[in-house]
Amino acid sequence: IPVAPFTLTVFGATGDLSRRKLIPALFHRDLDGQIPDEATIIGVSRRPLSDDEFRAFARQALNDHIPAAELQGPEVDRFLGRLSYVAADAGAEPGWSELASRVAAQADHVPVYYLATAPALFGPICEKLGKYGLAENGRVVIEKPIGKDLKSAIALNQQVGRIFPEDRVYRIDHYLGKETVQNLMALRFANALFEPLWNNAHIDHVQITVAEALGVEERAGYYDTAGAMRDMVQNHMLQLLCLVAMEPPSSLDADAVRDEKLKVLRALKPIDDHNMATVTVRGQYRAGASAGGAVPGYLEELGSSRSQTETFVAVKAEVENWRWAGVPFYLRTGKRLASRVSEIVVNFRPVPHSVFDDTAGPIDPNRLVIRLQPDEGVKLWLMIKDPGPGGIRLTHVPLDMSFAKAFKVRNPDAYERLILDVVRGNQTLFMRRDEVEAAWRWVDPILEAWRSAKEPPRPYTAGTWGPSAAIALIERDGRTWLEDGA
Ligand code: BG6
Repeated sequence: IPVAPFTLTVFGATGDLSRRKLIPALFHRDLDGQIPDEATIIGVSRRPLSDDEFRAFARQALNDHIPAAELQGPEVDRFLGRLSYVAADAGAEPGWSELASRVAAQADHVPVYYLATAPALFGPICEKLGKYGLAENGRVVIEKPIGKDLKSAIALNQQVGRIFPEDRVYRIDHYLGKETVQNLMALRFANALFEPLWNNAHIDHVQITVAEALGVEERAGYYDTAGAMRDMVQNHMLQLLCLVAMEPPSSLDADAVRDEKLKVLRALKPIDDHNMATVTVRGQYRAGASAGGAVPGYLEELGSSRSQTETFVAVKAEVENWRWAGVPFYLRTGKRLASRVSEIVVNFRPVPHSVFDDTAGPIDPNRLVIRLQPDEGVKLWLMIKDPGPGGIRLTHVPLDMSFAKAFKVRNPDAYERLILDVVRGNQTLFMRRDEVEAAWRWVDPILEAWRSAKEPPRPYTAGTWGPSAAIALIERDGRTWLEDGA
C-alpha cells in the first residue's frame, strides 16, 4: 500500500527511543524507497538545537545502529535533509507556534505526532497539540507504559482521547510489528492444516517464553517502578497469547482483529489472592554469570538493597471459553535468563492409542514451535521411524523452516512496519483503548495479590532459567518447560 507524503513530528527526538529505534527505522524505510520524496521529519525536545545540530545527532544515531556498508550512498544526506528541529516544552508556550507553522506549511501531508517521551507528558503534549490547532486531522502515536494500573491507564487514555478520537490514536506494542509475530496470523489463517486442531480437543497446553539474557542495566530507574509484569506481561506477552488464542477474525480490518483479541482478554480466568500462589511465580536475579562473564545482581545494578521489583514472572493463564477450556497457557519472561529466546510452543495431545510395541520407544506429542527471535522460524515436531533395518524405532524430529535460510532478505525492525502503518492509517497492529484496559483489568488483581502477600520475589541466579518455583509451577501439572520444542 503506497505511503502518502507525511510530516512526522517526533517529541522526545533526542531521547533513547528516537536514537535507537525511530531514526534507524525511518532511515531503513527511506533506503528501501518507501518514503515519499516530500515527507519530512521534525524533531522536538526541550534542548535548544539548530536543524544542523539535530541532523548531526541523527547522523550519530545512524552510525551507532546501522551497518557502515549501508551508510555509504547519497541516501544518508537525502534522509538527513528531511530533518528539522524545533525546541519546545510541553509545559511552556515557546516553540509551539513555530511548530504549528512548519506543520501548516505542508497542509497536504498526513500529520503524525510520535510521543517518544515519558508517559507523564502524553497528556500535556496532546493538550498543546489541540491548543495550537495541530490535532485536527493528525494522528498520535504513544507507547507503553500506558499507565501503571487500570486507573492510571484510563486517566491517560482519557487525556489523549480528549484531543484525538480513537481512530487516530496509535498505541504501539512493538511485538506486534515483529515479522514473526505477524507470521502467527499467516500461519493460523493462511493454512487449512492447523485451524481444525486449534482447540482443547487437540491441544494439551501452550507455552510462551520471552527470555532475555541482558539485565536492566541503565534502565533500572524506570524498570524498578514497573517490573516484569507491567513491562512485559501486561502488553507483549498478553498480545502474543491473544494472537494464539483468538477466534479467526472475519478480515484483517483493525477492529475485526482487535474485537477478537479483546474477547480473549475478557475470557482470561481471574488471578487474585485465592489462586495467586499456585499459578504465579515472581523472581529477582542475583549475581551470576552470563555469556561466560560474571554479572551483578538486580539490586547491585539498581544501587539499592530494598527493591522487591520482580525481574521474572511465570504465570499459568487460562482462557475460559469453549475453545480453550482446560488448556493452560504457561507464560514466562525475565531478565538475565540463560539465553535470549522468545518462542511459542503449541503442544498437541498425545496419540490416543499406540500400535507400536515397547521396543519402538515413547511417542512424543507433536509440537508446533514458533520462534520469534533470534533464529526466527517455525518447527513442527513429528514422530518418524528411525531409518535403518530391524524393527521400528520411533524418533522425534522437526520439520524446520528457518526464515534466514528460506528468505534472503533483511528482517526489518518492528518500528519500520509500524511507523508506516500509522501513515497508511492502518490500526490493525496497534492496541485499541479497550484492549489495554482489559489487560490491566486482569493484571491489577495479580499485582494486588502480590502486594498484600508481602512476600519478596524469589531469588534466581543470573544466567539460569529463573527460580525453581517456576519449574515447579509447570511440573505440578505433569508438564515441563521446553526450549526449541525439545
Ligand atoms: C520492551 C521492554 O518493551 O521490550 C524491555 O520495556 C524489553 O524491558 C524489550 O527488553 C524487549 O524487546 P525485544 O524487541 O528486544 O524483544
